Order: sequence, then C-alpha cells, then structure tokens
Amino acid sequence: MKMRLELFLVITAVICASSNPLNKAAGRKKLLLISFDGFRWDYDQDVDTPNLDQLSKDGVKAKYITPPMLTMTSPSHFTTITGRWVEDHEVVHNLMFNSETNLKVPIKQTMTRSEWWDNGALPLWITAQNQGLKTASFYYPGGGANYSGQAVNRALVLEYGHPDDNETEWRENIDKVMSWFSEEDFHLVTMYYGEPDSVGHAKGPDHPDRKVIIKQIDRTIGYLREAIERHHLTDSLNVIISSDHGMTTVKKRPQVDEVVLNKYLNLLKLTSFEILDYGGFGIIKPRLGKEQEVFDALSKVPNITVYKKNEMPESFHLAKSERLPPIIVVGDLGFNLNSRFIVYVNKGDHGFHNGEMDMKTIFRAFGPDFKRNFLSEPFDSIHIYPLMCKLLQIEPAPHNGSLAVTENMLLNSGGESTTVVPEPTTTEKPTGGSQTTHLSVALLLSTLLLFIFTGL
Ligand SMILES: *[C@@H]1O[C@H](CO)[C@@H](O)[C@H](O)[C@H]1NC(C)=O
Ligand SMILES: *[C@@H]1O[C@H](CO)[C@@H](O)[C@H](O)[C@H]1NC(C)=O
Ligand SMILES: *[C@@H]1O[C@H](CO)[C@@H](O)[C@H](O)[C@H]1NC(C)=O
Ligand SMILES: *[C@@H]1O[C@H](CO)[C@@H](O)[C@H](O)[C@H]1NC(C)=O
Ligand SMILES: [Zn+2]
Repeated sequence: MKMRLELFLVITAVICASSNPLNKAAGRKKLLLISFDGFRWDYDQDVDTPNLDQLSKDGVKAKYITPPMLTMTSPSHFTTITGRWVEDHEVVHNLMFNSETNLKVPIKQTMTRSEWWDNGALPLWITAQNQGLKTASFYYPGGGANYSGQAVNRALVLEYGHPDDNETEWRENIDKVMSWFSEEDFHLVTMYYGEPDSVGHAKGPDHPDRKVIIKQIDRTIGYLREAIERHHLTDSLNVIISSDHGMTTVKKRPQVDEVVLNKYLNLLKLTSFEILDYGGFGIIKPRLGKEQEVFDALSKVPNITVYKKNEMPESFHLAKSERLPPIIVVGDLGFNLNSRFIVYVNKGDHGFHNGEMDMKTIFRAFGPDFKRNFLSEPFDSIHIYPLMCKLLQIEPAPHNGSLAVTENMLLNSGGESTTVVPEPTTTEKPTGGSQTTHLSVALLLSTLLLFIFTGL
C-alpha cells in the first residue's frame, strides 16, 4: 500500500511537471492580426458590408474601441503590439524626431530605424519568438525594427510611394500569409493595410470614395475567409481585425476660422523645435526661459487646448515620456494645428482627443477560440495585447493591459456577460483557471496509470 502511494505521487509529480507545456504545444492555435489604418468605428454603418455583417454573426464585434491618446498611426499600432502606454514605449509621433538636433524623419523611413522603436518595451513578435514561436510582420508598423538586437523572423516593410489601395495586391498578400501559416508553420502574423486612412485624409470621411474603399475592405475580408478555408486553417487560426484611430472632417473657412498659431506667438522667437501642421496633435519646445510665455500665449488661442507635458491628464499616459518636449497642443475636433500658413490640404485628419467618437476605431475577431455572435462593450485598445498572449498561450511581457477586459469574448472564458471592467491598467498574468484544469487532468491520468501499473 505504501509502495502504491509513493508510485502514485511520483507519477502525479511527473505528469504535473510535463503536462503544461505538452498541452500547450498540442493545442496551440495560430493568430493573425490585421490592421486597416484609420478605420473609424462607424465606417461600416452607411455602406453595404455583407462580409463584415457575417463576421459579427460568426465571431466577436466590439461596439467600438478607444485608441491610446496620441491617435496617430505609429504610436497607436505600437501600443496594440506592446500593450504599453505611449509614454512607456516612447513612439510619440509618426515622425521620428530629435528636439535637440532638429531631426525629423518621415514615417515610412522610420520603419527600419530601430533607435526610434526599441526603447525597452518588447513587442509581441519578440516575446513570442523568445518562447519558441515563429512570427512575421507584413507591413505592420514596428515590425521592421530590431529589439535588443533581435529581428522579427520575417518582416516586410512598406516602401515609400507604394500604392495603398491595390485590391489585387491585397489578395495576393493574404495568399502569401496563408501559406506562411499552412506551409511554413508561422504562429503569429501581423498584417497592415494603409486604407481607409489614405482616402480619409485625401477626400474626407464623408466622401463617397470612403464608402467605395470600405466595400473593397469588405470584399477583402470575404476573400480572407475563403483563403482560410482553402488552406484548411479554419480550426487552427484565430483572427483579429482592428485599426489604430478614426478620422474626422477638417474644419475650414468659411465655416470656421482656422487655427494659425503664429498669429498668437512668434514661433521663431519663442520656440526652438516644433511639430505642427500634422493633424490635431502638436508638440512645441520653448526656448530656454520662455516656457511660461509660450504656454500663456497658446492658452489664448481659441479651439485648441495647450498642456504642459507634466500637467497632462493622467488618462493620456503621455506625461512620463522623455521624448516629448514640454508643451503639447491638441486641437478641438476638426481644428488642425497650422503653424504659420494653411499649407494643409487634408480634408480628413486625426490626432485629436481619444475621447472624441470620431477617433474611435474597430475591433472584430473570429476563429476557434472566439465566441460567436458576441457583441462586446467598448474597451481600450491596450487590452488587445494580453488577449493575443492568451490566444498564443505565451507568457506576456510586462504591459499595461488587462486580460479581464477582453477574455470574456473567448470560448470557455467562463464569463457570459458582456459587461466590461472599466479601465483597470494593472499588469496581468494568465489566469489560474487553465492551471487548475491541467492539475485535475494530470491527477486523473496518474490515477488511471496507477490502476494500469498495479494491475487493478
Ligand atoms: C537587425 O539585425 C540584423 C542582424 O544583426 C541586421 O542584419 C539588420 O540590418 C538589423 N535591422 C535593423 C532594422 O536594424
Ligand atoms: C496591382 O497589383 C497587381 C499584382 O501585384 C499588379 O499586377 C498591378 O500592376 C497593380 N496595379 C496597379 C495599378 O498598380
Ligand atoms: C471656436 O472658438 C470660438 C471662439 O472661442 C467659438 O466661438 C467657437 O464656437 C469655436 N468653434 C467650435 C466649432 O468649437
Ligand atoms: C505600464 O507597465 C509598465 C511595465 O510593467 C510599468 O512600469 C508602468 O508603470 C505601467 N504604467 C502604468 C500607468 O501603470
Ligand atoms: Zn493611422
């Protein structure tokens, strides 16, 4: 009897120690994250989108999601892929800049400049690779950089001047990615499409061409679903479709007086560095000793809000950034921040307060681990990161999201309610739930083995 008990304990211990990684490897699903840049949360509501409609029946749809403050492409995408606030990952603009040397690098050229992206916050690709997974980035912002010397296993980088709206190419890219999953055993691929952002900027969100591009995206999603079936990935691939920010119509004369900051302060005399003429978000470095004078002058400008960096609302999660200079300016919705002249030709723009509905964006998901026909309450995009780690069954890097906010959209998550916990920002580890399951499975197995071994 004593022998049996010892044998039982030994077997239990062995199975407990090994069952966790074994189960993980066997049951691990693959993950595709697709971003359609500048897809405002309500863009599908005035267009016929049969594939997106079908997707909400077959998967998860959030009413909308909120991007981090600094509603721009690189900052927001990098928050999604790191789960870190912008002040932490320090990708604080689309332009790479240095306020000491006056350096400004256009967005497309930043994509392979590791010194702009690699500030200690590890993106999901690298964390997954360090845990044995194979990952790729197809044009996704940040995918072309190295992190502590490590590159993403396969990274394609979008080149300057590449057309954003070629539907044939969109489909070819999907076919390539499907073969990466099915033939080369990639676990995680992130894809990026530059629409509907380009059309939104050029024509404005209310232009009929915006509806045309949404239909093209809808057809592409239909194509994606066919491709998933064709590659026999239906039961093994989870897909998240999201975006980085919304879009609003730029307010112009004669409806409003546009904002021209140099009318209120002599920028040349009082400031040594600025990024203005770039949508709703501007940054300004006053000359030495001129901080209060700049702040006071900007405080008198109608239709904008000026902040001292260290006095910004905590919900912005920007104050701790070392890269941002001391003064931040945010235009009221639709008021672009012009410096000296109105050179800005955009009819639509973003960069405005993330509380504005026009800055909200989309979240859709489907695949073997997602509930069907599940409408999620709105949530912050930062909570996508722990969800992706859970789907890939990896240990997350330190982050600011909370799995509790997003895991109710998963099958077997236990929670039936659509209620979302508001705004928790503590770092979360995977729940103990799955460990408990592993333990009881191991106990069951070892008991069975005990019976076999002892001939009972
Ligand atoms: C990343 O590191 C690899 C290998 O060290 C190097 O060949 C490559 O040029 C680096 N890429 C970037 C974007 O720095
Ligand atoms: C669109 O992409 C396809 C496939 O890559 C290419 O053959 C075609 O020339 C492209 N069309 C345009 C207008 O760039
Ligand atoms: C812009 O500011 C002016 C002056 O304060 C104000 O009268 C006007 O209502 C503002 N416009 C908008 C659209 O908020
Ligand atoms: C975000 O997460 C990082 C890493 O865990 C942490 O250092 C930082 O304090 C967090 N930020 C907030 C606002 O909780
Ligand atoms: Zn964008």
